[in-house]
Amino acid sequence: MSDRVVAVVGATGVVGRTMLSILEQRDFPLGSVRLMASGRSAGSVAQTAWGEMVVEDLAQADPSGIDIALFSAGGARSREFAPGFAAAGAVVIDNSSAFRMEAGVPLVVAGVNDRAVEGHQGIISNPNCTTMTLMMAAGPLHRAAGLHSMHVASYQAVSGAGQKGVDELVGQMDKLGIDLDALMRGGWVDPGPALFTRPIAFNVLPFAGSETHQGYTDEEWKLVNESRKILDLPDLLVEPTCVRVPVLVGHAVVATLRFDRRMSPGEAVALLETAPGIEVWTDRAPTPLDAAGIDNVLAGRIRATVGEPGGINLWAVGDNLRKGAALNAVQIAELLV
Ligand SMILES: NC(=O)c1ccc[n+]([C@@H]2O[C@H](COP(=O)([O-])OP(=O)(O)OC[C@H]3O[C@@H](n4cnc5c(N)ncnc54)[C@H](OP(=O)(O)O)[C@@H]3O)[C@@H](O)[C@H]2O)c1
Repeated sequence: MSDRVVAVVGATGVVGRTMLSILEQRDFPLGSVRLMASGRSAGSVAQTAWGEMVVEDLAQADPSGIDIALFSAGGARSREFAPGFAAAGAVVIDNSSAFRMEAGVPLVVAGVNDRAVEGHQGIISNPNCTTMTLMMAAGPLHRAAGLHSMHVASYQAVSGAGQKGVDELVGQMDKLGIDLDALMRGGWVDPGPALFTRPIAFNVLPFAGSETHQGYTDEEWKLVNESRKILDLPDLLVEPTCVRVPVLVGHAVVATLRFDRRMSPGEAVALLETAPGIEVWTDRAPTPLDAAGIDNVLAGRIRATVGEPGGINLWAVGDNLRKGAALNAVQIAELLV
C-alpha cells in the first residue's frame, strides 16, 4: 500500500467533492487524504472513502508531509498558498487560472500534452474547463494536420461558476418559473444581478466571465491563450465567444477548425475515434445531459466547412467538473506517480 499523502484544497466545493470521488473511483494510490477549505468549513466532518475526515482551515494548515496537493479553492488562495505547499515538497496541481500562463508551469490536458508535466517545478496547472473540452477534440486533429485557426463558441454550464452558480440557476427557476405567461409575453420580474449579471434561468447570456479588454471576457482570453500554450502554437488564430446557458453540468463548444492542409469529416472522425478520452457520436448529437457524470468528452456533428472548404465544424461536450477540472487533475497526478 502507498504511503502517499494527498491534500484536496477546496474540498467542500463542487470541484473538490468531485476530486474526492474520482480519487476513490480510480483507486488512486494513496495512504491518506487531507481536506482543506476556508475557516467557514474548518472543523466540519466529511464522509469520505477513507473514513470520516475533519476539514482543516487552509490558512492554518501545515503543508509538510504532503506529496500531492490538488488545489481548487480559487485563484487568490492558489497564489497565496500554493508556492508554500510546493516549497514544503508537495507537487501542486492547480485548478485556478493563477499560474496557467507562467513560464515554467506546465499547462496539461491529460491525453493531449502529457509530456509537458516533465518540466514542472512544483506547480502544474489544470486548464480552464472550456479550453479542456475543446482541446480534447482539437488536439488529435492538430497532431495529424497542423491546426491553423479556431472559431469557437462555448455553451457553459452554471456549475462552471461553482456551487453558487448552481444555487442561482435553481433558485431563479423556482422564482421565475411560477409565471410562465410573463416569461413568454413579457413582464417577468428581474431577480437582479447576482453571481451572473443577468437572469440565467430560462435565458442565455452572451458572455461568460468578466469583460477584460477588446470587448472580450477573461473566459474568452483563456480559450485563446491556454489553447496556444497547450498546443505549443503561439500564433494559433482563435476567435472566441463564451456563452452561459441554463445547464447544470456540461460545457459544450462548437468550433470551426482549419488546418495546414484539408481535412475531411471522415478523417476527423477516424482520428477522434482512436484518440483517448473522447467518443464520437454519429447516430445522434451528444448533449450536456449525456456528458454529465462521465469521464469522456463527447463529440458529434462533425461536418465539412461549407464556406471556405477544407475545414471541419464540430460540436463537443464534456463534464466541466470531471474532465474539465477534477478528473484531469487526478489524471495529472497519475502521470506523476
Ligand atoms: N466549477 C468548474 O467547472 C471549474 C472548472 C475548472 C476549474 N475550476 C476552478 O476550481 C476552483 C474551485 O471551483 P468550484 O467550482 O469548486 O467552486 P466552489 O464550489 O465555490 O468551491 C470553492 C471551494 O474553495 C474554498 N474556499 C473559498 N474561499 C476559501 C478561503 N478563503 N480559504 C480556503 N478555501 C476557500 C471553499 O471552501 P468553503 O466551503 O469553506 O467556502 C470551497 O471548498 C476555482 O479556482 C475554479 O476556477 C472550477
